[in-house]
Amino acid sequence: MCGIVAYVGHREACPLILKGLRRLEYRGYDSAGLALLNGDGLKIYKKKGKVSDLEQELSGKDLHATIGIGHTRWATHGAPNDVNSHPHYSNDRRLAIIHNGIIENYATIKQNLVRKGHEFRSETDSEVLIQFIENIRKETGCSLEEAVRLALQEVVGAYAIVVISADDPTQLIAARKGSPLVIGVGDDEYFFASDATPIIEYTKDVVYLNDYEIAVVRDGALRIITLENAQTTPYIQKVELELEAIEKGGFDHFMMKEIFEQPRSIADSMRGRVRAEDGHLQLGGLRDYLDQLAASKRIVIVGCGTSWHAGLVAEYIFEELARIPVEVEYASEFRYRNPIIQERDIVIAISQSGETADTLAAIELAKSKGATIFGVCNVVGSSIARATHAGAYTHAGPEIGVASTKAFTAQVTVLTLMALAAALRAGTISDTLFRQLLAELERIPALVEKVLQDAEKVKEISYIFTYAKNFIYLGRGLNFPVALEGALKLKEISYIHAEGYPAAEMKHGPIALIDEDMPVVVIATKDSSYEKIVSNIQEVKARKGRVIAVVTEGDTLLPGMVDFVIEIPKVHEILVPLISVIPLQLLSYYIAVMRGRNVDQPRNLAKSVTVE
Ligand code: AGP
Ligand code: GLU
Repeated sequence: MCGIVAYVGHREACPLILKGLRRLEYRGYDSAGLALLNGDGLKIYKKKGKVSDLEQELSGKDLHATIGIGHTRWATHGAPNDVNSHPHYSNDRRLAIIHNGIIENYATIKQNLVRKGHEFRSETDSEVLIQFIENIRKETGCSLEEAVRLALQEVVGAYAIVVISADDPTQLIAARKGSPLVIGVGDDEYFFASDATPIIEYTKDVVYLNDYEIAVVRDGALRIITLENAQTTPYIQKVELELEAIEKGGFDHFMMKEIFEQPRSIADSMRGRVRAEDGHLQLGGLRDYLDQLAASKRIVIVGCGTSWHAGLVAEYIFEELARIPVEVEYASEFRYRNPIIQERDIVIAISQSGETADTLAAIELAKSKGATIFGVCNVVGSSIARATHAGAYTHAGPEIGVASTKAFTAQVTVLTLMALAAALRAGTISDTLFRQLLAELERIPALVEKVLQDAEKVKEISYIFTYAKNFIYLGRGLNFPVALEGALKLKEISYIHAEGYPAAEMKHGPIALIDEDMPVVVIATKDSSYEKIVSNIQEVKARKGRVIAVVTEGDTLLPGMVDFVIEIPKVHEILVPLISVIPLQLLSYYIAVMRGRNVDQPRNLAKSVTVE
């Protein structure tokens, strides 16, 4: 959600910032803008729409500058339009700001400023912040750095900001609380961005700014101070991210690339952790916490969207293998519910981006109640990864498509490893089953590959249902969360209304929707609930619903009963979601493409939801 890119150094800032904003497009946004500082002063250019609309706006202008700030906005305060787009000037136009997040007490600050004669051009909370900084500076005569610090001490809410001043072409001031900000450190040049993707082309040395820290670059040097004005030493780390990982690599869309990457990304999420032949399983990040996990009385899993679905899959697996009761909560509900956290409870927070505001808040709440928090994150160094006590990265590589695909399978893989490790330590799993599951896990990448080889078949089915208005997805047991995930994928990128249900729940209401126009996707693999789900399919067929069934290879019964069949290889029931979700990802992808949707950046959605 929202992208920040800023640069100060010796390169041309404008093309660098625009390229960086393009790299951040996947995060979701509705307008784009930049501010450049050169001999002509501090100039802002901004436009509702895509980065390409901004580029059009810029064409023919003299944009030479070696310092600048750029932003893609995801509107929270004020409609997406040219005026509300960032950057925003101060009243005297000597300062400009880009901001990601929400200033919750902006209205009170604004009232005070209006009383003092400030005028506002936009409806945003961000403009209030820059004018507030300007006002402090004027009233106290302090430096810009000090004014930013004093202003942020008064601010309630979440922010990542970068401020530029017409008075100093060597200076950028950035700060964060709750929204991500990475600083790239080059040779006499500095980059600021919401994540490392705009930076890695130029340098692999980065500093992840922490909450309540302010970074000041001036005259080629970087300093970091806290909101309390204490100096801290910038901790420079290497980002292990290659450029190819954030490019499309021959696919039409990032989403398709990421679906097809899953054999590799699932293998990566197990790399160095599993060796089935000698029964080896080790999760480095959990080593010191495994006893605590195995002895826990209850696990509470928090997450949002697809990550929440991965949590639902994990619920079955942890309960089945480790015999620990699990509750799965939407982070947004958990945080406002005064939840009961007891001694020996473990909270597992799942998040691809590691920046989801609700999940982060849920962690802070659980922490304040004394819980031990584990993280399952994809983005290394992300806020959630840093806020948790321990955890395991999913190592799926950057996920750019807004619809989560490879992150889901990596999350499920890692959660399965966690459950297996806990079960082994707790003695709730037999050695035979433990080894069998490790061996089957090692086969998963090859089996996913096999499902992907049948993508054309899914494409043909998708073609038939391109113009459906509604879809129902049904599954039981571990395939119930997969049904939810399949429905979410479809609605996100094709804008077709879709509902996921536990198959047996259908008769308690949704069955009323079934008629000859209703496509029903049923995940009906050969597992312990197979017979039951066959009956559920009969119920749908009896009402003329059109059934697309995901079945286990070699099933001879269902092909004669349903309208379309997608076969997947047989695996142990516990691991089925890793395979059964693949055709559903493909189905939604093809339908969305055939409907001409913007698959990678669906409307209204943001990749990283940094506001609650
Ligand atoms: C998934 O396709 C969605 N775009 C969305 O539901 C996502 O899973 C959710 O916003 C959580 O994000 P996170 O994993 O980065 O925390
Ligand atoms: N709250 C700010 C606005 O609405 C920033 C939104 C964003 O993060 O893009 O302009």
